[in-house]
Amino acid sequence: MPADPETPWSLALRSITQPSDGNHQGSVFGGVIMSMIDQASYVEARRHGVHRWLTVAIEKIEFQAPVWMGDMVTCWTRVSRFGTTSVTVEVRVEAERFTTGDAINVTTATVTMVATNAAGKPIPFRSPPSMPIAASGPKPH
Ligand SMILES: CC(C)(COP(=O)(O)OP(=O)(O)OC[C@H]1O[C@@H](n2cnc3c(N)ncnc32)[C@H](O)[C@@H]1OP(=O)(O)O)[C@@H](O)C(=O)NCCC(=O)NCCS
Repeated sequence: MPADPETPWSLALRSITQPSDGNHQGSVFGGVIMSMIDQASYVEARRHGVHRWLTVAIEKIEFQAPVWMGDMVTCWTRVSRFGTTSVTVEVRVEAERFTTGDAINVTTATVTMVATNAAGKPIPFRSPPSMPIAASGPKPH
């Protein structure tokens, strides 16, 4: 079921496309955008619980416009369904043209993310954080 249209979109991911993202026609591989959709869904899921989130399903992705090299790509997200162990995330991808600054709708996708424990088993995402304190980064004093 789609999200309530009144649900606001949140910024999840923004990136400038690079030559390594592209094909010889100057446009960006669809798989690069699909990877961004997956990462954006993770970012949104993480906002709802500190767990090991896994992608279980991505619904149809239909590209409405190409992404060109140098475009700034933004993924906006919102949750359309809060389940027990999963959240379903709508992702809207927008490209800001490098040359004109015009914002173009590229695609939308619906992604279901599942919160899992260390053994990879689904757990309620509203349960207390199940990830250990980050092993890297500054230690608290
Ligand atoms: C994600 C995974 C742990 C789910 O395990 P499972 O035994 O199918 O779990 P369940 O049947 O209990 O379902 C868990 C949740 O996922 C949802 N779900 C399962 N399959 C789904 C599908 N195809 N589409 C949408 N939601 C789905 C269920 O509705 C449930 O949500 P809820 O608790 O909020 O109602 C397991 O399928 C898995 O490990 N898959 C691989 C995930 C992965 O590695 N992704 C990255 C690929 S590189």
